Amino acid sequence: MPREATLATERRPLTVAVIGATGVVGQETLSVLSDRSFPVGTLRPMASGRSAGQRVVHRGKEWTIEALPDAASKNDEGSGAKLAAAFAGCDVVLLAVSKELALRVAPAAAAAGAIVVDNSSAFRMDPATPLVIPEVNEDALAPCRAALARGEGCIVANPNCSTILALVAVTPIHRLARVKRMVVATYQAASGAGLEAMRELESQARSFAKGDGHEAWDTRYFGRPYLFNVFSHDSAMGADGMNEEERKLVLETRRIWRDDTVGVSATCVRVPVLRAHSEAINLTLERAVTLEEVRAALVAAPGVCVLDDPAKNQFPEPRLASGRDETLVGRLRMDASQPEGHGVSLFLAGDQLRKGAALNAVQIAECLLPSIRR
Ligand SMILES: NC(=O)c1ccc[n+]([C@@H]2O[C@H](COP(=O)([O-])OP(=O)(O)OC[C@H]3O[C@@H](n4cnc5c(N)ncnc54)[C@H](OP(=O)(O)O)[C@@H]3O)[C@@H](O)[C@H]2O)c1
Repeated sequence: MPREATLATERRPLTVAVIGATGVVGQETLSVLSDRSFPVGTLRPMASGRSAGQRVVHRGKEWTIEALPDAASKNDEGSGAKLAAAFAGCDVVLLAVSKELALRVAPAAAAAGAIVVDNSSAFRMDPATPLVIPEVNEDALAPCRAALARGEGCIVANPNCSTILALVAVTPIHRLARVKRMVVATYQAASGAGLEAMRELESQARSFAKGDGHEAWDTRYFGRPYLFNVFSHDSAMGADGMNEEERKLVLETRRIWRDDTVGVSATCVRVPVLRAHSEAINLTLERAVTLEEVRAALVAAPGVCVLDDPAKNQFPEPRLASGRDETLVGRLRMDASQPEGHGVSLFLAGDQLRKGAALNAVQIAECLLPSIRR
């Protein structure tokens, strides 16, 4: 019996809150909960006051979107208690809001006893918060399991979407021959920046189709034409010349692999694709491997689908990865510029809304459900 079916039938239905339910990650979270038959008894979709009262349909039933209490955006005394009260009775809280909101909401929801999985970067580098990709480091959930067994809540951080997709594909090779260095170039979709960014790309396409020049396009979100363009990732740039997305790939990889010595070099850019990120990855391995070994490791890996058919010119594409749970991996080849057998190159495409966010978060919750004290 599939894991999700076991959960659905053996456990009582749960109260599940999705915070940011109107955003791209929140909407995808509702789809994933439904697709995996997550045992939702009561759904509590929440968003800002702007969306309160709107309806969402989950497995054929309508639920009303609640406004997250104002306390979430204030720092006044007692606001934590007000928030905790809002989450009373919630078993699982899936957060798909900004880092600033998550910093206030997640501790309150955990204080109310819930399993909290946060999609933002708020807790990713907090040593007390596990940063988890179930296919890679499920064992890092041990402190949360212990907390739940004591009847307490816990927070788990979902890694950055580019990190999740990269490590789902590269960890099977890392387990084979330890990755010493990983060089990544990302090709990131509009939806990675949220609903408004997606709408901007769509509106530029409509303007182009009408014959409007780029001076007339709506460029309010990215501040530049996105259609027919490629530009550096829109996150803040540090004094060292790395943008935040690149820094996340470096730091989160080290944390998830528990290896501070692994070298990671990243270049992150936006490409005019609506959904699903792609990444070109070059690895330096500790020991020599054959391409056959690498291919076999990837074929056997959970969450990976090898799509690598040179004869038909079929390789990973964001179009093919959209809506899929697996990360597509192809263009597998040895890198002849490195000592023989030590260099491997690959290309991947993965749905960053799904495995890069919503699916990974729901998988984490599934891993923890058996530890809830009833
Ligand atoms: N997009 C991705 O591919 C991706 C991948 C991994 C992680 N993430 C992370 O996931 C989080 C959500 O990203 P997103 O792309 O889904 O953003 P989004 O599409 O812009 O959605 C933002 C959500 O936050 C809600 N919100 C805004 N202000 C609020 C408030 N004061 N109180 C309650 N809710 C509020 C919005 O509700 P209203 O509609 O009511 O404004 C909306 O539901 C971010 O931390 C992001 O970094 C995103």
